[in-house]
Amino acid sequence: MLKIQPEAIMVAAQTQTTHKNFKGIEKTVFGRGSFSQLDEILAPRRGDNEGYFVFIVDNYFKGKPLEERVPVHAEDLTYYISVEEHEPTTEQIDQLRDEILAKKGLPSGVVGIGGGSIMDIAKALSLMLTNEGSSTLYQGLNLIKKPGVYHVGVPTISGTGAEVSMTAVLTGPVKKLGLKCEWTVFNQVVLDPELIASVPRNWWFYTGMDTYIHCVESENGRMNNAYSHAYAEQAMKLCREVYLGEQSGQTPENDDKLMVASLMGGLSLTYSEVGVCHALSYGLSKILGTRHCYANCLIMNHLEDYYPEGVAEFKQMVAYHQIDLPQGLANEWDDETITKMAHVSYNLPHMWLHAIGDNWQEVITIDVLKDLFRRL
Ligand SMILES: [Fe+2]
Repeated sequence: MLKIQPEAIMVAAQTQTTHKNFKGIEKTVFGRGSFSQLDEILAPRRGDNEGYFVFIVDNYFKGKPLEERVPVHAEDLTYYISVEEHEPTTEQIDQLRDEILAKKGLPSGVVGIGGGSIMDIAKALSLMLTNEGSSTLYQGLNLIKKPGVYHVGVPTISGTGAEVSMTAVLTGPVKKLGLKCEWTVFNQVVLDPELIASVPRNWWFYTGMDTYIHCVESENGRMNNAYSHAYAEQAMKLCREVYLGEQSGQTPENDDKLMVASLMGGLSLTYSEVGVCHALSYGLSKILGTRHCYANCLIMNHLEDYYPEGVAEFKQMVAYHQIDLPQGLANEWDDETITKMAHVSYNLPHMWLHAIGDNWQEVITIDVLKDLFRRL
């Protein structure tokens, strides 16, 4: 019998890591025109609970051709929600949940049609319809107590990876943090690249760069592994085809590629982690309400110390598409604002551990973060 030395056991215990064990999307349909299958997809669920669906649609589509194509039945509730002014908040989700339950009771399911914020609203609402109290109670990992109702994501902007992630990011009075658990993941996603054709050019760029940045961050840190790397490598290749070179631009072929890149970038970071850009971006968004993808672009522009290759390629893409990223924003911010941003960013240890390592607190201090914000 092999005799194991006590020291060997101790070493094994010290180096043992916990590997992520995630639930994926249950069903995915991909293809041009697949949105037309939505009614058929929802049909088997229509008998569940009080027998009606809630559609959460980006207000951008109000009065546009897509509005006519949403398969709403007479008994369903539809909310057109504007996500232009702010990212989803805990208060907004609580109000919406209370209103829906008071009106018609528990729905058969929730369908989100829109960009990353609408995906987050649909996921959070699905969970909060069955979990009592304010959503602020559940911001964090595995705090949700009961499974939500059936929920479907139909992205109309690609890049954030919200269609595949196990988190529904909400801004609350204290923190910007997701409701993160297995039940957050969509039961079904409908990936129809025709739906992203009408994205305004600047948002097409910012959201696509969110995917690119997910990959750079996923790859550059200690959580990266063969599984997350394979997704990141492919997603970055697709991003380069979409944003660099002669075939780049908003074409049907590139819309197909971007939709897949977003999904794969999301999967890459799920099995690895985001890093410096996202940690800073959370600080900026929490304090000033800056939209996630735009905030990432503003910050990535100044992170050559951390991601030299990624930032160089990012700048190439910015220049190629003549995207105007403003400079000198920090001139308008007082020290108190910058300090608040730095504290929000600092309090994301999982990102810093991945990006910097065990000694991250020696490298990243509030002053270092404040200096980074001052570069903006
Ligand atoms: Fe992101």
